[in-house]
Amino acid sequence: MSVDFPKHIAIIMDGNGRWAQKRHLPRLAGHKAGAKAVERTLRAAQKNGISFLTLYAFSAENWSRPQEEINGLMQLLSQALDDYSHKAMQHNIRLWFSGQRHPLSPQLLSQIDAIVQKTAKHTGLTLNLALNYGARQEILHAVNAAFAAGEKALTQETLHRYLYHPDLPDPELIIRTSGEERLSNFLLWQAAYSEFYFTPVLWPDFTEHDFEQALAIYKTRTRRFGGI
Ligand code: IPE
Ligand code: IPE
Ligand code: MG
Repeated sequence: MSVDFPKHIAIIMDGNGRWAQKRHLPRLAGHKAGAKAVERTLRAAQKNGISFLTLYAFSAENWSRPQEEINGLMQLLSQALDDYSHKAMQHNIRLWFSGQRHPLSPQLLSQIDAIVQKTAKHTGLTLNLALNYGARQEILHAVNAAFAAGEKALTQETLHRYLYHPDLPDPELIIRTSGEERLSNFLLWQAAYSEFYFTPVLWPDFTEHDFEQALAIYKTRTRRFGGI
């Protein structure tokens, strides 16, 4: 028995801070090393023919961190977007943004908007960047947008149409690094039947091999969707 090949893999990239702590480095050094792991993961996803890769980069709840860490993270994100924008052009990658715009900086938002627009017609991997993302916020946004559009009684299908990206298939596989085994407000609606892969590997140490290991484990799963 085999599972369908996953179209969408979503990753909770966790453990940057602990990676740095273990090396007596500032937390930001962990986030920098984490950006390298993103590059490796993108390569692995492309190589393995994945269509959609969602990366949880910053949660709606991460604003509760020290301001210095937030500033550093936002700066790193902006740098990473600069780098990836070239890669996206070279490799036919399409960028999507999932999250609330407020209170992200206008500079970062216009940078994201520009890449999203520039890559909109690309037909390779879709990199869905979950930034200032919270799943409860996404669901509430969908409900409010649906009512504002005049919808009356919501069905699952109608609500789905008002999610950030109605064309994003539900992730078949969700990976979380660093040994934590929780969703932390990630894709609550879309994860209804996702398979989970938890690994103790800290995100900056995550390699192409770890990605392929997760895929291999996924292939051993039996997905029943309530059937037998
Ligand atoms: C994940 O690593 C990156 C973000 C949440 C932005 P953490 O910064 O959460 O690392 P730990 O969990 O403290 O090790
Ligand atoms: C989840 O990691 C968010 C991201 C990876 C961006 P956190 O480190 O913020 O999650 P908690 O606080 O441990 O649940
Ligand atoms: Mg964490």
